[in-house]
Amino acid sequence: MPRSHIEFIHSNSMPWVKKHLDPLFKNVIYKTLSLDNDTKEMTAVLKFPKKWNQQKPSSLTVDEEIYILSGSININNIQLDEGSYSYLPAYYPRENFFSKNGAEVLSFFSGKISYTCDFKKFNKNKLIEKISLYQDGWDKNYIGINSPEIASSGSRKKLLRTDPYTGDQTWIMGVIPSYQEKKVESHPVVQECFILSGEIEGNCGTMVKGSYFWRPRDILHGPYGTKTGCTILSRSKGGKLIVDYFDLDKPFDFNSRHNVVVPDKLLKYSRKKTRKIIY
Ligand SMILES: [Fe+2]
Repeated sequence: MPRSHIEFIHSNSMPWVKKHLDPLFKNVIYKTLSLDNDTKEMTAVLKFPKKWNQQKPSSLTVDEEIYILSGSININNIQLDEGSYSYLPAYYPRENFFSKNGAEVLSFFSGKISYTCDFKKFNKNKLIEKISLYQDGWDKNYIGINSPEIASSGSRKKLLRTDPYTGDQTWIMGVIPSYQEKKVESHPVVQECFILSGEIEGNCGTMVKGSYFWRPRDILHGPYGTKTGCTILSRSKGGKLIVDYFDLDKPFDFNSRHNVVVPDKLLKYSRKKTRKIIY
């Protein structure tokens, strides 16, 4: 079964799983945010302990897309600190791979996680060793992501990746405080988001730091608004993001109802947050 519509869960409410993930990630604990039971594509938060070290040069047989939520990891002497992004194609060799001080990492795997020491050629067109939001800053404009309502609000974006074959994209949105949408929208592609900071409310309720959704294509959503502003890591799957807008029946207000769409087994991780987070 492909991935279920999950909109939304709070990853911070989920327990860490200690069950073995893969030899490459020995002693790394994790939370599975969503999983495709057919392709085994997976989105997860991984927690590396301090002084973690993968002793042997190794690689994965699937692509891994990485964003560092906190702490740092080091792959092939490239230090990935908080706010760093990387795209490692299948069979990209990790000559050394360690975390000195521990890390929490948002990882997107393109299939069943599987370790190998058999180094085949990897696809250099897909490799992104490092992009850092904190070191490199926002893009100068909103070109490259089709999201006119956010773009025209003065919000910012950082485009991290456009897949050279599928057009799938990954980017970070920096939505300005007091942003309020005037339309609802849908996309003919899957959209997947993780809230990195701040909070934002919409037709499913209020998402806060650590909230996550996986939304299948063609689902009407919004309008969204944020008092605090927020930073969101976002991916499109099935091609570039295209936005179809529809007029609102009633204007946006900051009194959204909690109305999540999640499989029963995840309901306990998607309860309304009654306490505001402290920034
Ligand atoms: Fe959207």
